Amino acid sequence: MTRSPLEKLLERELARFEGSHPRSRALAADARRSLLGGVPMHWMVRWPGGFPVFATEAAGAHFLDVDGNEYVDFCLGDTGAMAGHSPAPTARAVADQAARGITLMLPSENALRVADELARRFGLPLWQFALTATDANRFAVRLARAVTGRPKVLVFNWCYHGTVDETFAALADGRVVARAGNLGPPVPLDETTRVVEWNDLEALERELAHGDVACVLAEPALTNVGIVLPEAGFHAALRETTRRHGTLLVIDETHTLCTGPGGYTAAHGLEPDVLTIGKAIGGGIASAAYGFTEELARRVQAAIPQDESDVGGVGGTLAANVLSLAAMRATLTHVLTEEAFERMIALGERWAAGVTEAIARHGLPWDVQRLGCRAEYWFTPSPPRTGGEAAAADDHELARFTHLYALNRGILLTPFHNMALMSPATSEEDVDAHSRVFDEMCGELTA
Ligand SMILES: Cc1ncc(COP(=O)(O)O)c(C=O)c1O
Repeated sequence: MTRSPLEKLLERELARFEGSHPRSRALAADARRSLLGGVPMHWMVRWPGGFPVFATEAAGAHFLDVDGNEYVDFCLGDTGAMAGHSPAPTARAVADQAARGITLMLPSENALRVADELARRFGLPLWQFALTATDANRFAVRLARAVTGRPKVLVFNWCYHGTVDETFAALADGRVVARAGNLGPPVPLDETTRVVEWNDLEALERELAHGDVACVLAEPALTNVGIVLPEAGFHAALRETTRRHGTLLVIDETHTLCTGPGGYTAAHGLEPDVLTIGKAIGGGIASAAYGFTEELARRVQAAIPQDESDVGGVGGTLAANVLSLAAMRATLTHVLTEEAFERMIALGERWAAGVTEAIARHGLPWDVQRLGCRAEYWFTPSPPRTGGEAAAADDHELARFTHLYALNRGILLTPFHNMALMSPATSEEDVDAHSRVFDEMCGELTA
């Protein structure tokens, strides 16, 4: 059997990874005794080296592993650490708060200050808190159904909004089906969900015309099947169509916060009824929030029976805990600031330019996409325009190689696509280190 050049390169990289990560390898083997699949969270089995790197410490845009290897982190906990690892103001506020109480089921003044700041950034006046973006989305969907009296949610093909049951739907020959890998869906997905392709306004109009969709849940740009940007006029039409059909618009800014301090919403003047956000806003401490327009807040308030508000399906004992709020206040006030975004976005541009140059130099049929301080490369000559196209462009073997090549040279990319995120602590040197490694890799692939 002849091996393709890519297979040979991949084999070489796997051997190099094993050789330079003996301690991680031993821990991964030991972990099989007490962790399901040898990992604390099941998808960690998908890291490209065959076992995950075990980290010891992280600071800013860097981390160390148990074998003493140092990495530039462009994954940043898939946005959870977008503020950088342990940013000093957040770490101080968390330590200070932890010494004075962690959770009470009572509000702290920080709740007001964070809500005020979120209102200032995103333009929605009234807020609630959760601990994960998944929960913020679940609660938004539930409340949308409650106030509209409609049963369904509409999402875009290949979206990701966390582990929200209704969103694990996909299109197969125009039919709504459970996404591949969807474990134990409570009901068939076509009972809860309508799905259309991103940028397909005709399908959006057709599906909303059924009159049974409580809300559209959308990222401003798809970011979880790679970055798929909205076409000109898409958001204006999405807003107009949802309003005309009495469907609420929930915009999930969890990843698109990379666009700027007020996310894509502020940068492009979106007018959602609900905005959800999690991950980065607490600097890595479990935090999420969802905000409403004044009008929708009135409807939500009217829909919640005061005496049963603790069993309405929206909650979480630890949600809005004082530690989480202290972390959000410090991160939003001192770390993810306007000045920080200016630098982060410039670094995103630098990263994209470095990759673009290398692609051109080596004549690869690849392209680069960027949204603010998040950028990635595609194995296609131009970026896809729908989730379906993006998913079809995936090349599993090639992606495994590109990730492992980078990892072996001290660079962590976001898993499952070739994505890099810049933090306030990321430096030009970090970005240039990636450009050099990427250029070298392109050279090997085209040799
Ligand atoms: C856009 C978006 N929304 C929500 C989530 C869910 O976040 P979490 O897993 O922290 O609940 C994710 C996770 O990747 C996401 O990308």
